[in-house]
Amino acid sequence: MRLIGNKTKLLGSIEEFLTERGVVGGTFLDVFAGTASVGRHFRARGFQVRSNDLMVGSAVRQHTYIALRRYPSLAKVRDQQPVRRFLRSPAGRRALAERGAPPKGASGLYEVVAYLNSQLPEVEGLFARQYSEGGVGERLFFSAENGRRIDSVHNQLMVWRQAGTVNESEHLLLLTGLLEAVDRVANISGTYGAFLKKLQGSARDRMILRPPVIETQGPAGRVFNEDANALVRRLPVDVLYLDPPYNGRQYAKNYHVVEVLAELHSVQLSGACMEAYEAEIYGKGGLRPFVDRQSSYCRKRKSKGRPDCAEAFFDLVTNARAEHIVVSYSEEGILSREQIGEALAQAAGTSDYDYEQGHLEIGYKRFRSDADKKNRTYRQPEGRAKDVVAEWLFYVHAPQYARPRRRRVRAAS
Ligand SMILES: C[S@@+](CC[C@H](N)C(=O)[O-])C[C@H]1O[C@@H](n2cnc3c(N)ncnc32)[C@H](O)[C@@H]1O
Repeated sequence: MRLIGNKTKLLGSIEEFLTERGVVGGTFLDVFAGTASVGRHFRARGFQVRSNDLMVGSAVRQHTYIALRRYPSLAKVRDQQPVRRFLRSPAGRRALAERGAPPKGASGLYEVVAYLNSQLPEVEGLFARQYSEGGVGERLFFSAENGRRIDSVHNQLMVWRQAGTVNESEHLLLLTGLLEAVDRVANISGTYGAFLKKLQGSARDRMILRPPVIETQGPAGRVFNEDANALVRRLPVDVLYLDPPYNGRQYAKNYHVVEVLAELHSVQLSGACMEAYEAEIYGKGGLRPFVDRQSSYCRKRKSKGRPDCAEAFFDLVTNARAEHIVVSYSEEGILSREQIGEALAQAAGTSDYDYEQGHLEIGYKRFRSDADKKNRTYRQPEGRAKDVVAEWLFYVHAPQYARPRRRRVRAAS
């Protein structure tokens, strides 16, 4: 899934960085989880993952990739007349054959996804109206057909959820499939901060759900959906992984379309008035206020008494209760190397930060959308290839937070 700062390409380097420092297991809190790629990776390595993010869209995916123990059967959905009829029909058998053999335990999920992909009538709902071609919002995030398909799949999931045909985990698993499908056909260049003027490339394709592939090897973890600074104060862990936003672009403004879809189910389940919810969508891009999802980490300077990035970061690391703290940060971020080092030294109770032992720079190729290639130039440090940018990794050992149960965590120092 597209997300600024997604660490999918750096997972191997982060793991190596930790292993070299003797950190090979225990509880692992990914407190700015985003796509959940980091937590998922370390779960597969046997860590007991705790995962958190401020955004509801992230929390939905974390439920699927971090908290699920096994594929749910979706038995009550498969028992429904129209679903049974479809699965026995030649069209149903063909759809399943095309998708290929499911992983162990996932046949129910494969069947339900095949049904959702081909059997629902299109519906004109919030997504068709607000975010799709021909809608009142005149926002070209999706083709007209895909807008109606998003609404129809979402409505079906809600009907099943409200009738108790799916439980919460089954619902969130199917919703994950929908969020990921939506992202593949979004008419955007990188983020949802703006839509493209004409429907481009994959946005013209018909939206197809794919069954999410869940992690069945490592231990199931726990998921949170709250402010990182509040969570670290009350959740002691062995390893704290920090990958905060690094620039001024608020995630709530750049992923609002995904966020609306992700939170629609809880808005509906809470019985809130959907017309009132939709009426709060505003502006050229169809934003929502999302005041509760504004991040201090995107603020260079304090504003209206709200902390800035440096203050929030210092507060987090000095109040965390973790023996090992690891930070990922872009060299192009708001915080300087020195600000991060000073805060980590405070967390460890030392006067200086040991850059030699605790710091690493990894170069990787910058993602550039077509629009970005045309309109932006980036500073190219001396001796650096074009479009290569560095990600910083930091590590600090805070032995005062070593927990008694430490069978699988070894500290290097
Ligand atoms: C750089 S991204 C993380 C990317 C993630 N490591 C991945 O691989 O996908 C930063 C994340 O921090 C979240 N975030 C921002 N401020 C937060 C806060 N105060 N508490 C919790 N999460 C926050 C954003 O919603 C975003 O998903």
